[in-house]
Amino acid sequence: MSRTVRVDLGDRGYDIVVGRGVAPGARLKELGARTALIVTDTHVDPLYGAACESHLRGLGIEAKRAVVEAGEETKDLRHAETLYRAALEAGLDRSSAVVALGGGVVGDLAGFVAATFLRGIAFSQAPTTLLAMVDSSVGGKTGVNLPEGKNLVGAFYQPCEVLADVTTLATLPEREYLSGLAEVVKYGVIWDAVLFERLEREADALRAREPVVVEEVVARCCEIKAEVVRLDEKETGVRAILNFGHTFGHALESACGYGSLLHGEAVSIGMVFAARLSQRSRGFGAGEAERLIALLERLGLPVRPGRAAPSWETLRRGMGTDKKARGRMPRFVLVDRIGAVVFGCEISESAMEETLRAWA
Ligand SMILES: NC(=O)c1ccc[n+]([C@@H]2O[C@H](COP(=O)([O-])OP(=O)(O)OC[C@H]3O[C@@H](n4cnc5c(N)ncnc54)[C@H](O)[C@@H]3O)[C@@H](O)[C@H]2O)c1
Repeated sequence: MSRTVRVDLGDRGYDIVVGRGVAPGARLKELGARTALIVTDTHVDPLYGAACESHLRGLGIEAKRAVVEAGEETKDLRHAETLYRAALEAGLDRSSAVVALGGGVVGDLAGFVAATFLRGIAFSQAPTTLLAMVDSSVGGKTGVNLPEGKNLVGAFYQPCEVLADVTTLATLPEREYLSGLAEVVKYGVIWDAVLFERLEREADALRAREPVVVEEVVARCCEIKAEVVRLDEKETGVRAILNFGHTFGHALESACGYGSLLHGEAVSIGMVFAARLSQRSRGFGAGEAERLIALLERLGLPVRPGRAAPSWETLRRGMGTDKKARGRMPRFVLVDRIGAVVFGCEISESAMEETLRAWA
């Protein structure tokens, strides 16, 4: 069983296949790739590396694996260079492909390598985390971090196929899985009240990773992301709604030190902050905000910064350096009602600070 979602970007369009036991390579074969470099990490390789390699070989694609250390520290230019060298050693040429097998770290890094090696070769995404399935593998953002900040070097580069095998989620550590659920909730809030209601109804099944529910929900999230990317591939407008919860979330994540709070956990808290701001400035209903908080809590996600929260000044500075800020003024995605948001909203200093103090 699988579901296919089309990302409709003309001649750069591609299919996302969500299912159980799906594997990458069919589109690469159609494109004539004869060699491929599978980029994966030290956690994923022992679980799924060999199967991926033999699947590609079965399709007649000579595949080699390049295994990087698991973790965000790997997403840098030094590791990109290591992969360029591995690609040369594996004999890749302009008709070859890079396959990303893993989470968002591997996807962003491998995608950047695919975008730049020999000025760009075919790229396939085989996401194995929930976050990568519903978010990072779709939409073409690739890149690496600099010591000065995250994702500062990169390229928009669309994959030619995305294969999300939801059975791989069975081995994902609990915290990583729950963190991915924050992005799932985000899609309900920004786009689809029916999805949000379904998440409320099926929170327990989702939390228990019931395959049928997970597959359907992942596919719906991919449909939403595909539609947003179709409308605004390079993020000049509506794609900004995907940052709901991220302005505060990123500031919190970096202030706490990357790694202490997972991305999705920070986004969960950031969504509650955005909901509180929305109550103040957009007339978002208190009952609706409570629904959001209750859902996040049922999914095992944090809804407050917690005791070790950074000071308001630190958070404010962090929000001012957000990529979407203008002249240090953060620009928020706010909610009118569940399923409908607005982007590019500026909020007065006092309203931001009072909201945080009243809530956290
Ligand atoms: N390109 C985009 O649009 C986009 C969007 C959101 C996030 N991102 C990026 O994604 C990255 C975060 O991605 P992530 O949350 O997937 O983290 P990750 O890639 O670090 O994976 C999380 C952990 O799970 C392990 N893992 C992965 N799949 C597994 C499996 N099936 N079983 C067992 N362990 C498994 C990994 O080895 C890692 O330790 C960040 O760098 C972020 O900037 C990119």
